[in-house]
Amino acid sequence: MKKINEITTGKAKSLFTTELSDRLIMHFRDDTSAFDGKKKEALLGKGSVNNQFNAFIMDHLESKGIDTHHIEVLNSTDSLVYKLDMFPIECVVRNRATGSICRRLGTEDGLVLEAPLFEFFLKDDDLGDPLITEDHILSFGWAKEENITGMREITLKINKILSELFLNSNLILVDFKVEFGLYDGKLLLADEFTPDGCRLWDIETLAKMDKDRFRQGLGDVVESYHQVADRLGMNIET
Ligand code: ADP
Ligand code: TMP
Ligand code: ASP
Repeated sequence: MKKINEITTGKAKSLFTTELSDRLIMHFRDDTSAFDGKKKEALLGKGSVNNQFNAFIMDHLESKGIDTHHIEVLNSTDSLVYKLDMFPIECVVRNRATGSICRRLGTEDGLVLEAPLFEFFLKDDDLGDPLITEDHILSFGWAKEENITGMREITLKINKILSELFLNSNLILVDFKVEFGLYDGKLLLADEFTPDGCRLWDIETLAKMDKDRFRQGLGDVVESYHQVADRLGMNIET
């Protein structure tokens, strides 16, 4: 499968059309961005580890009954995916409070939540990805009720599956963000699941092993992503 035209250039990935109109090549770049694009840097090897990390997680989720856009890995930085009509929405689940919720609610950093907390955010960098409710989504027509319910249910299911997977490797899945789209009317998990879009803490030391290392200038960003991959038994080609 060959790349034809670049149709999307995001902050960390690029999407290309292919000879099949319903399939795209997702290219993971080394570009790293945080704070809605305000902090940017290229980190050598990040595209490669993220592409393979994402494929491992998507395959694991598929094996547990989650339908995803992932078809196959093409090379170290590229994967083939179904082309979706994306919702302009980010679905977040938190198991512990950290990041934006602490700024918003004054919550103690690291607080273990009594139950996983699900939140919708509008995908709009210029607005700083604001928190929105189901009512906003319905009133503005960003998604229909059945898909709102579906996104919530699937995201919470993903939380269960992945919390267990990471826990088996002595990692706490603190929180994460996922995106969804429609393929022929069917709701599919889209985009990526990598340490760029989640928070992972070592179970004993609570050391951060995700993109917070970049956000907070802690260093060893790509090295930490590789350590997580190693712990999960992924075989990452560099
Ligand atoms: P951002 O949108 O945050 O700048 P990326 O660099 O990750 O981030 O860009 C990838 C883009 O591709 C995002 O806009 C995402 O919503 C979109 N996307 C992800 N998966 C698919 C898909 N299967 N079909 C169409 N668009 C997708
Ligand atoms: P937050 O604490 O900044 O709201 O982020 C919660 C989790 O979701 C964290 O793992 C980072 C991830 N996330 C993204 O990857 N991209 C986003 O645009 C948002 C809002 C969150
Ligand atoms: N809002 C998220 C962050 O601060 C994602 C992003 O901006 O790319 O990292």
